[in-house]
Amino acid sequence: MATSFQSPKGTRDFYPQDMAVRRYVEDTWRKVSIRHGFVEVDGPTFEFLDLYKIKSGDEIVSQLFHFEGRADKEGRAEHYALRPEFTPTLARMVAAKASSLPRPIKWFSLPRCYRGEAPQKGRGREFGQWNVDILGGDTPEARRQFDLESAALCLDGLRELGLTKDEVVLLWNDRSLVEHLFAIVGVPAERYPFAFYLLDRIAKLSPEQRRQLYTQNALTENETAFFEKLAAGQDPLTDAFWADLPHADVEAYRKPILDATASINAALAAMGFDGWARYDASIVRGLAYYTGFVFEIAASAGDLRAVAGGGRYDKLVEMFGGPSLGATGFGMGDMVLSVLLQEKNKLPKQLLPAPDVFIVNALDTPAAAQKLLAALRASTFNADRTAIARPGLIAITSYKASKNIGKLLQDASASGAKLAIILAPAEFERGVVKLKNLATREEKEIPLASILEEVHGALR
Ligand code: HAM
Repeated sequence: MATSFQSPKGTRDFYPQDMAVRRYVEDTWRKVSIRHGFVEVDGPTFEFLDLYKIKSGDEIVSQLFHFEGRADKEGRAEHYALRPEFTPTLARMVAAKASSLPRPIKWFSLPRCYRGEAPQKGRGREFGQWNVDILGGDTPEARRQFDLESAALCLDGLRELGLTKDEVVLLWNDRSLVEHLFAIVGVPAERYPFAFYLLDRIAKLSPEQRRQLYTQNALTENETAFFEKLAAGQDPLTDAFWADLPHADVEAYRKPILDATASINAALAAMGFDGWARYDASIVRGLAYYTGFVFEIAASAGDLRAVAGGGRYDKLVEMFGGPSLGATGFGMGDMVLSVLLQEKNKLPKQLLPAPDVFIVNALDTPAAAQKLLAALRASTFNADRTAIARPGLIAITSYKASKNIGKLLQDASASGAKLAIILAPAEFERGVVKLKNLATREEKEIPLASILEEVHGALR
């Protein structure tokens, strides 16, 4: 009896059309990264489990797919995990070779990542990510520049895919500013890690879950009132937020934000992204390694999860045994992005490659057609020496037994090919073939000897 299987929960099968979308997105990410001066890297798909335990944040660690390797002679086995993200791998790689890498280090990668999350719209258990990171920067100014360059590159990737500032927004915050905020309401410094964790999740927690967390962590009345205001979506930049909440000097929080807003907006505008970014007090990022500027990309409308997220993580390389090295970057997932591009109708109509040439073979044997296919696939053509040489044509033929040229031409048209070359016995004897433009239906006889020039000419 046959046994049928489905793909595991949260994974995707990439049929040709899906794969074409994936490649289009990846090719765009790669092109945009290169144009900003980044070079591509990759690492292993699985790492030692401990690499993620050090500093990735509890949530991501609880979502790891992990396994034991083969035991050695003493019966000891290593514990591994499929990578849930690329940043720990990158920090490990940089730490290992930090002294020999040219600075700033500008790396991008397109890893596939694995998280045991509950699948939902735009979130799965295996996904592709665009990672971009800049490491180095000796001064605060240089590091700020890197933060903004990585944010601008993230936006450039989205704009290259056709999205506009009406459709996506970069929401930013700064963990050091959030610490100011905590200080104003009297959150003790030792509770900051919990406070960041809570703030990151607060919009997703039920009132009951929030109450439990407040009790477990012995929050004061004032702290509880503060988090409840944030949970209700109130904005700490407004006076209303503070009206009934005992607090220290709010200006110590407000002024740096207004200053940063002005300088970030001006810098992004200079880079071509005027009006694409906004301060958002609720963005703190769940991953524990962030130390300063943080941002997420959100779709302006609808219920989609974040398209991208990133920020500054100045301690991670050192934590993995490298030098103290400033670092900033982001990750963008392919799943939520594909949903968004589909919803906004931004995907190019024709993503699957169409053949340039379809050979209609009405000869008795396949030999001549195969020889011509090989010549077309190997051919490059640069007649006027100015045009870019075409890198070999996409050439296919039919494998049907039928020698009926009309029927075979129907197959040629159905394949989406631009041209058909018809190999018919009588003409072929005379050393000629027919070249047919499948869009205009025009047809002409060509000496076989000059078919490559004719084909390239017709495709120009
Ligand atoms: P992250 O916020 O965990 O950050 O993930 C970045 C992006 O990856 C998300 O915005 C989302 O698009 C995508 N993503 C995350 N989880 C899933 C999932 N389960 N299914 C589909 N897509 C998902 C990081 O991963 C950081 N390492 C980014 C970074 C790089 N920070 C500095 N450099």
